[in-house]
Amino acid sequence: MRLLQRAFLFLLAIAIAIYFYATFYAAVDIPESRLLKAASGPLSEIAFSDEQELVKGQRRFVVVIPADNPNPDLCKLISSAIALGYPSPVVVNWGEKSYKAEGGFWAPYLGKISGTLEYLDRVTLPDANEGDKLGEDDLVLILDAYDAWFQLPPNILLHRYHESNKRANDRLAAQWGVADDIPMKQTIVVSAQKRCLPTSEEGSNLHCEALPESDLRPDAYGEKTDTEATYYDNIRPRYMNSGSFMGPAVDMKRYFRRVKERLEKGLAEGLPFPGDQGIFAEIFGEQEVWRQWRRDFMGRFPNTEAAAFMQRDGEFHVGLDYTQNLFIPTVYAENDGRFISLNNKSTIAQHSFALGISHVHLLGVPEDLVDTYNPLADILPGADWGEMALYADFFTTAVPVVLHHNAWKDGVKERRIWWWDQTWYFPHLRQLLELHLKPGKLRPLASLPAHNGGHLKYFAPKSDEEKRKPRAFSRDTVKTGFDEIEFDAICRYENETKDSKKHWYDEVFRDNKGPI
Ligand SMILES: *[C@@H]1O[C@H](CO)[C@@H](O)[C@H](O)[C@H]1NC(C)=O
Ligand SMILES: *[C@@H]1O[C@H](CO)[C@@H](O)[C@H](O)[C@H]1NC(C)=O
Repeated sequence: MRLLQRAFLFLLAIAIAIYFYATFYAAVDIPESRLLKAASGPLSEIAFSDEQELVKGQRRFVVVIPADNPNPDLCKLISSAIALGYPSPVVVNWGEKSYKAEGGFWAPYLGKISGTLEYLDRVTLPDANEGDKLGEDDLVLILDAYDAWFQLPPNILLHRYHESNKRANDRLAAQWGVADDIPMKQTIVVSAQKRCLPTSEEGSNLHCEALPESDLRPDAYGEKTDTEATYYDNIRPRYMNSGSFMGPAVDMKRYFRRVKERLEKGLAEGLPFPGDQGIFAEIFGEQEVWRQWRRDFMGRFPNTEAAAFMQRDGEFHVGLDYTQNLFIPTVYAENDGRFISLNNKSTIAQHSFALGISHVHLLGVPEDLVDTYNPLADILPGADWGEMALYADFFTTAVPVVLHHNAWKDGVKERRIWWWDQTWYFPHLRQLLELHLKPGKLRPLASLPAHNGGHLKYFAPKSDEEKRKPRAFSRDTVKTGFDEIEFDAICRYENETKDSKKHWYDEVFRDNKGPI
């Protein structure tokens, strides 16, 4: 009996040793953790390969919205997310007063950078609540709160995200000359716009000239494409817009941490603060300067440890959504798109000609939408993407996942109100929300074929099984689980009271049926 007990203990000890060895090995071997720990020992530059992009397994996907004020426009973003089957958004900075106190005029930007980073740091700690916890490879989408709407479901976004990385990494490989052992890669996709802003007079250096060319068709805007530097309408989008980001938690943390350091330096030195876009874009510009320098010295790189330091401080895996298939910011493209049925060839032709496009670019429903999950089919069997109103750009042919109303000229910011009822989901919003607000077992948001066979499956955070309303990140509830926010609390006009003439639901639903 004693012998048996000893044998058992011995085996148990071996099993524990193997477990710890395996976990430790897994933790130290990922390239990103080596990037992070570059200061702790002699190192060489890290090389990446195409194989890392789509690997078999499971990941979480989370939608993060920095916001500290309620508003019907915020409500539109959140309800479009939930109605289309996205994970219930996590709101950071909700009820957070400290940034307002510290940041004054710049408070929203400070909150966006610091609040989001704090969220990412805390939910990736081992003792974070199981329901809200993220792993380093889990995917994070960060969106500006008050002027964006979803129009396509998560499976399309996740597919396009990987496609965008693939396209960018193929390009990096072509520039490098070989397909393997490349010291740079893309995992973070940020939205692209037509003008390099803010300018250097406004306190930042975006290295506009050093940025990559767009890889959109060279005649996207006809013969005048990219010809006049300051006629932005005809410039293919190749500059950063900091309204939308998507990437793995581990890389987002590195990027946001660098941006936060730069922000703190600027504030400490009393520099004019160029808004968050100035800082995000400056770090991106520096990355591109580093990448070009690295290519120029490709075969003549003297010291591998120095190279590792340079890589650590220069390479953030950031790239832009040149096609605008993920996110479309409407600034300098005010008249380039509208809501249409993509099957209606005559309307497409009509609008294209009116915009001076001689041979129609937009050729109907994008290939990746054909035969994919359609959230409307849950309530209207047989629903067809080609017959539903979708926002499309007649020049670039983008039918984006997220429409970002950042155009302001001639008061078009108000399209947030004028166009809301043109979305395909508006007439069904209440019904779609009721459907998706029911608790239930998580189903995969997307299942993508992996390089090495099998699939990469994405799931919402575990909390979504029970808590279907948006949740508020707070450092006090990281271990116990984030609290839900009621629609009334997040959707109302800031000055709305129960006696107000107009309530948030009169704007968001417009159906005289009250709140949800
Ligand atoms: C296409 O759209 C136009 C204008 O909106 C409309 O008059 C026409 O009936 C539509 N055609 C079809 C085939 O739906
Ligand atoms: C709330 O504020 C807006 C803008 O300041 C104003 O137009 C609106 O009338 C106000 N609503 C109420 C109920 O006070």
